[in-house]
Amino acid sequence: MRLKGKTAVVTGAGSGFGEGIAKTYAREGANVVVNDLNAAAAQRVASEIAIAGGKAIAVAGDVTREADWHALHDAALEDFGSVQVVVNNAGTTHRNKPVLEVTEAEFDRVYAVNVKGLYWSVRAFVPHFRAHGGGVFVNIASTAGVRPRPGLVWYNGSKGAMIVASKTLAAELGPDGIRVNCVNPVIGNTGLTAEFMGVADTPENRQRFVASIPLGRFSTPQDVANACLYLASDEAAFITGTCIEVDGGRCV
Ligand SMILES: NC(=O)c1ccc[n+]([C@@H]2O[C@H](COP(=O)([O-])OP(=O)(O)OC[C@H]3O[C@@H](n4cnc5c(N)ncnc54)[C@H](O)[C@@H]3O)[C@@H](O)[C@H]2O)c1
Repeated sequence: MRLKGKTAVVTGAGSGFGEGIAKTYAREGANVVVNDLNAAAAQRVASEIAIAGGKAIAVAGDVTREADWHALHDAALEDFGSVQVVVNNAGTTHRNKPVLEVTEAEFDRVYAVNVKGLYWSVRAFVPHFRAHGGGVFVNIASTAGVRPRPGLVWYNGSKGAMIVASKTLAAELGPDGIRVNCVNPVIGNTGLTAEFMGVADTPENRQRFVASIPLGRFSTPQDVANACLYLASDEAAFITGTCIEVDGGRCV
């Protein structure tokens, strides 16, 4: 039970990596606040955690909206008293395509979810962490932010922004006992896979991506959750400002 006694908020936890992180945290003893834009998906994950013997509540909300972060903060405190861990996992992308085909609306949506979501999480939870002697942010960035592929210019840029902001937050908030780290997954099998590929999700097309991953497969939600578990645990008490690549060697 590596997270016993802790409460974690996981955004975008209604599917994909976030669902894996929420379920892993719950198995390791954490109370989990399952956030997602999709209320039914958040409720499903929270119910499955409860059926498995864990503690979770579902709080629907949009990470781009300040009011929804306040609601998330208040719901977490009402049910669990305090929060020690926030996982900024909710994310989105424009489809993989040439840079001049990405519309302004797509650009704005990607930056609103991937970058502004982080901004609001900091504003919502840093005062709470400061008042309680510290806390942990785990931010799901991407290998896209350090080893970008073509076709995802603005998604890659948004993840690069997340990484630099996270390192700066680590430097600025360290004296408050607040740790900030990133996890950088390589392409995985989630709701976003087809968008990242930009072509039909066939075994042949997947092989083009797998070919650049030395360990020879996509990442899984459990791979990502295992890194997030370490970073949230007290085993990582002296780890801040880092990125863990969960990428089978893709960034080498
Ligand atoms: N799948 C990959 O290949 C891959 C690789 C690297 C990084 N990532 C990152 O992993 C994270 C999780 O994505 P995933 O791949 O599991 O995709 P996913 O689509 O399966 O999960 C993302 C979840 O976030 C939710 N969401 C979207 N916008 C939201 C918002 N504004 N507020 C709250 N929730 C919102 C969605 O409803 C969805 O349930 C993202 O940050 C993504 O950029 C994914």
